[in-house]
Amino acid sequence: MLVTSAEIVHPAAAADRGAGAFNVIQVELAEALSRGASAVGAPVILQISENAVKYHGALAPIGLATINIAENSDQPVAVHLDHAESVPLIHEAVALGFTSVMYDGSKLDFADNVATTREVVQFCHDHGVSVEAEIGEVGGKDGVHAPGVKTDPQDAAKFAEDTGVDALAVAVGSSHAMTTRTAELDFDRVAAIREAVSVPLVLHGSSGVADENLTRAIEAGMTKVNISTHLNHAFTDTVREVLAAHPEMVDTRKYLGPARDAVQAEVSRLLGVLNAIP
Ligand code: G3H
Ligand code: ZN
Repeated sequence: MLVTSAEIVHPAAAADRGAGAFNVIQVELAEALSRGASAVGAPVILQISENAVKYHGALAPIGLATINIAENSDQPVAVHLDHAESVPLIHEAVALGFTSVMYDGSKLDFADNVATTREVVQFCHDHGVSVEAEIGEVGGKDGVHAPGVKTDPQDAAKFAEDTGVDALAVAVGSSHAMTTRTAELDFDRVAAIREAVSVPLVLHGSSGVADENLTRAIEAGMTKVNISTHLNHAFTDTVREVLAAHPEMVDTRKYLGPARDAVQAEVSRLLGVLNAIP
């Protein structure tokens, strides 16, 4: 069933559990994520990034397909617009029926980020939609996700209070699109931010974090864990293997199907690692 992300992350945070949030690019990924969550009886957040929207050239086709998959799941599933820098795109997502958005003002200075995030929160809450946001790093090209950037607990607390967000992305040592799982997280900082901030915390760039450190991050106080590259890896590895073994293959279902199965199995496994199964 389709729910907001607040309906997933708030109970998870209250129970010191994690919540898995995985990115959808092709419809096969939405199917794999929903099936993987369903197989273990866990809620899940399906997210479509602004970059994925640029890839497709439109939000509606992949967005509406993902919403339909969520509606038909036997588990709570939120459909979330990820890393949106465009406020008009957020308005479009809400009109389409997305139940959650991330406004990414991390490239703005603190005051501008707070001001725009507040407007987004007001609009989305008026429409029953959850909002995630993040604090930026002044001048940092990759915002809060640049390697080495870390969130200050008091800044995080002020940002959450000033904006009214439902969840807050913080920088604690991970960075986006890593293809090795070697990131070193600052667990003491996770605990300090959790202590200072009243809303659930979000870890981005989690593909670079090893299983045991994902579990530790949840224990230290992280809740929503965003994983994309790692699942693309599982998907693409399978396509590569199947096509290498069958160079004559032309039916796309014959290699996308096994790739979808591989992602489904990995999602089920990761939800256990994240302690996301109630
Ligand atoms: O918002 C999405 C994520 O932060 C995913 O990052 O591709 O490094 O796992 P990742
Ligand atoms: Zn991210």
